[in-house]
Amino acid sequence: MENQKRLFKDEEILEWITSLTEEDLETVHKKSLVPFYDQVFVEGKGVYLKDHTGKEFLDCTSQAWTSNIGFANPDVAYAVSEQVKRLTHVRYGFPTIPRIKFIHKLASITPEGMTKIAVNAMGGGAAIEAALKLTMINKPGAETFYSYTRGYHGSSLATMTLASRFAGVTRFRPWGFDRVSKIPFPYCYRCPVGQENEKSCKLECLELAKHLIEYGSLDKVAGILMEPIQGPGGHIPAPKRYMKELRKWTDKNNIFLIWDESQLLTRIGYWFSSEYFDGVKPDITCLTKAIGGGLPMGVTIARKDLIGFNSAEEHSTFGANPLMFASGLVFLNYVERANLLENTRKQGMYITKKLQKLMEESEYIGDVRCPGLMIGIELVMDRESKKPANTLVTDLIEIAKDEFGVIFGTSAPISSDSGSLYRNIVKIKPPLTITQEDSDHILDVFEKALEEAVDYL
Ligand SMILES: Cc1ncc(COP(=O)(O)O)c(C=O)c1O
Repeated sequence: MENQKRLFKDEEILEWITSLTEEDLETVHKKSLVPFYDQVFVEGKGVYLKDHTGKEFLDCTSQAWTSNIGFANPDVAYAVSEQVKRLTHVRYGFPTIPRIKFIHKLASITPEGMTKIAVNAMGGGAAIEAALKLTMINKPGAETFYSYTRGYHGSSLATMTLASRFAGVTRFRPWGFDRVSKIPFPYCYRCPVGQENEKSCKLECLELAKHLIEYGSLDKVAGILMEPIQGPGGHIPAPKRYMKELRKWTDKNNIFLIWDESQLLTRIGYWFSSEYFDGVKPDITCLTKAIGGGLPMGVTIARKDLIGFNSAEEHSTFGANPLMFASGLVFLNYVERANLLENTRKQGMYITKKLQKLMEESEYIGDVRCPGLMIGIELVMDRESKKPANTLVTDLIEIAKDEFGVIFGTSAPISSDSGSLYRNIVKIKPPLTITQEDSDHILDVFEKALEEAVDYL
């Protein structure tokens, strides 16, 4: 085999991918079908991003909670650049060395008995759709699914149907709705059934969910899809005892429990959520975001006794991309070698405790939620009314970014009476490589930005 001849000089290619004019930006704004920001990130290193004006930011969003092993991770860069020189694409049915090694490695860390794996290059939505298909294969005749209020599972038609009331979903409402119903998520800070404290709670929301399923579904129920710790819906961990009881009930009623762990893998300080939930396991789980080491990837993991797909049921043109497998393989090994799970638990606990201390002093902090570096702070106008403080959140985020160079995220758990969403959660989800110094800096900026934003109220 001989190398193809290069057509371009290095400088020509570098010019394409590194230089930008205002005119380029304006033209593309007009031509794009989807909106985007004016800020162009051009480089990342560890927890920092640099934009086209040269400004640097500590990014507590890891860009859609994805770059868990740091931006432009140098080991990923090496693996991908070596693989790209060898082979960049094969048809889905063909294994490659990175694919074989990736699946092997992943299967060695999955929860016990969950060792059947399908991988795609399209991300979480596709992984969740694969989980639904797999459920239907294994439960012939059962086609009804339940998912949770405040849930989010992607932007494909099927996953939008499974999602809750997020902007955009409603325009596609009629599609698939006869197959999917919603049950209430156990959001303890704003309990859906009016419980006020944990001690008196008898999991009434679970009783309501069971009632809705038992009496409300017209067809045989195939499965329940849930984010065990909701991300986009407001950083809400389901209580551990809820999960235990739900698992018991779904087992008894022969209903599949499908988890969407898209945001959770490693971010919560464990590989898989079942470790956090004291061993409770789903039948199928879905991953995306961090698992690809920064490249696109979605993964569906199932109980080893389940029947798999035939070759027509689950495949896509780019689904076996060797670059993504090389990158994902580095991700799995990097987390272990750098002890990132331990660092995540340590830094997560440190930040959370400091925020809880700050909550004692500030009436505006209603709730601080974790685990690990999946930290959500719910801001309210006062603790009594719990009125969502969304302008406070918007201002805080703007101040932190513009004045202090720290990017915080946000999400929206509550619908207003008019149907729009309150964005009153500040999210702190940096790459898991953060140091103690970074954590202190994040806390310092959060406190200062909150103080300033309160002045604007
Ligand atoms: C919890 C959750 N599930 C699913 C998805 C969809 O993943 P993707 O955008 O890769 O399709 C996301 C993406 O934000 C998510 O946060």
